[in-house]
Amino acid sequence: MIYITRRLEFCASHRLYNPKFSDQENAEIFGLCNNPNGHGHNYVLEVTVKGDVAPDTGMVLDLKALKKLINHEIIDKVDHKNLNVDVDFLKDIIPTAENIAIKFWELIEPKIENGSLHELKLYESERNYVVYRGN
Ligand code: NI
Repeated sequence: MIYITRRLEFCASHRLYNPKFSDQENAEIFGLCNNPNGHGHNYVLEVTVKGDVAPDTGMVLDLKALKKLINHEIIDKVDHKNLNVDVDFLKDIIPTAENIAIKFWELIEPKIENGSLHELKLYESERNYVVYRGN
């Protein structure tokens, strides 16, 4: 079994806020990400697919095809967008890295044709990232 990873980047803004909480509670829970007018992140997404090496190509999959799929399903929908209001699949959820990674998984996992999706790693900053493996 081989694991193959494609790294992509996108820029987006968001605001972390739960209307169930008071303004003060929101500020305490979400910190800088609660800034009332939002703020941006330079996100980095690493998509790892696992599979067997096909003898005829020596490859698990065509990385160009994987890049195209991720761009079409994810990056084109979130790059230079406000994640709170511009992105259909993030409506009504708090756009934390955790929630975003889960939604990204749901979008691409059924569409990987060669191999299977193993892991998504979403960096919100150089120091902060989440890992999701589908459960
Ligand atoms: Ni933030």
